[in-house]
Amino acid sequence: MKKKLYIKTWGCQMNEYDSSKIMDILMHTYSYKLTDKAEDADILLLNTCSIREKAQEKLFHQLGRWKLLKIYNPNLIIGVGGCVASQEGEYIYQRANYIDIIFGPQTLHRLPIMIEQVLSNKKRRNSSPLIDISFPKIEKFDYLPQHCPKSPKALVSIMEGCNKYCTFCIVPYTRGEEVSRYSDDILLEISHLASQGVREVHLLGQNVNAYCGMTFNDNICTFAELLYLIAAIDGIDRIRFTTSHPIDFNDNIINVYRNLPELVSFLHLPVQSGSDRILNLMKRYHTVMEYKELINKLKDARPNIGISSDFIVGFPGETNDDFEQTMQLISDINFDMSFSFIYSARPGTPAANLPDDVSQEEKKQRLYILQNQINKQATSWSNRMLGTTQHILVEGQSRKNTMEFTGRTENNRAVNFEGSIDMIGKFIEVEIIDVYANSLRGRVISAEDKINKSITNNQKLTKITNIINTKSL
Ligand code: SAH
Ligand code: F3S
Repeated sequence: MKKKLYIKTWGCQMNEYDSSKIMDILMHTYSYKLTDKAEDADILLLNTCSIREKAQEKLFHQLGRWKLLKIYNPNLIIGVGGCVASQEGEYIYQRANYIDIIFGPQTLHRLPIMIEQVLSNKKRRNSSPLIDISFPKIEKFDYLPQHCPKSPKALVSIMEGCNKYCTFCIVPYTRGEEVSRYSDDILLEISHLASQGVREVHLLGQNVNAYCGMTFNDNICTFAELLYLIAAIDGIDRIRFTTSHPIDFNDNIINVYRNLPELVSFLHLPVQSGSDRILNLMKRYHTVMEYKELINKLKDARPNIGISSDFIVGFPGETNDDFEQTMQLISDINFDMSFSFIYSARPGTPAANLPDDVSQEEKKQRLYILQNQINKQATSWSNRMLGTTQHILVEGQSRKNTMEFTGRTENNRAVNFEGSIDMIGKFIEVEIIDVYANSLRGRVISAEDKINKSITNNQKLTKITNIINTKSL
């Protein structure tokens, strides 16, 4: 009988991506079956996140619940992965000695071997846990099976880790330093996805614009070059990426917005704060003015571009005046849908040692004001779309009504409309006829598959050859 696997995922898109890779390995290579009931599973995995909140407490609460299941099924295997596993390592076992496996974001591909080892240890009545939270350089990707996409859009990790060490952030300590995948491996993965019907790729990394991967002939491929190469893959007509850091957003990347219609007119570019004093304490290495100049250059290259951001309120020592400057920046840039968080001290990060005299009440109040403003702006971006024609990638059919379909616009808004099954996986044109809080209503104008190709096949070949030979774009 097939063994049953249950995975719980907390955190960002990167963690979602890692969990999907764990499923690929265990289900496709090792024939595990996925279950959505923890009590039916033979193996329980928890993929954790430590970016905010009281991650440890949350972890031990969850494990406490799973401990009960182990009492009734001693052969049950419990594994903890992700950033909390990476940070806490053996301590997790010390507090929860019924744990079998502790793995990190860079060692998830070793799970099958670890599971085998646990099973053989169990036979010998050895219950010591297997712990591997090391950072082997990018080895992981060589062990991941090819993904079988279920949707016309796919996540593709191009780099891992972060070298920026913003003073508030735990990521460089839990995911390690920046490592870029080989460009040819990424291109091969995407062309495989394209051959399976994928039309949109979402490139992932903590800092994608710092990408610099080796090519097969030992050249360096930059992020801008990678974008051109991906857009040249037949079938790939839309590219998104997250996340970028403003200091790595160079002119070559801005030029890609001029040259490649495949790149969406929407960019998530976290700024965190609108106060130079706070940006300096956060060690973001840029000023508010520099951020604004960057956005102006982007708007020059792509006039209709929408920008979203991450904001932290209540960073240690943030004054009312600092907060007002953030509010000013929000209205100056006119950010679209964005993420905002109350600062959460992460043990081991430099900011955790800074004196923090802003009350929690005050922080909550600031978050409320900020989110209110962002929501208003996002609504007015949506309202402006009313009556316009939008290019959407049709992703699927509604479960409740078979006549209803859904797709996404370039600025990532869900559009629901009446359509037909043959539209799935195509880029079609809809007119926006209604605007709701979290979605739009559309009417099909043209169901013909509209592709965005900026270059023909011949130009494509010449371009790729140029990049590989001369590296000039
Ligand atoms: N480049 C990364 C950023 C990771 S963290 C990415 O791939 O998204 C995502 C966001 O969480 C950050 O931009 C920041 O706004 C927020 N964040 C990180 N550490 C935080 C902390 N200690 N407290 C509150 N918010 C935090
Ligand atoms: Fe974190 Fe700053 Fe890197 S927010 S992921 S250290 S860019």
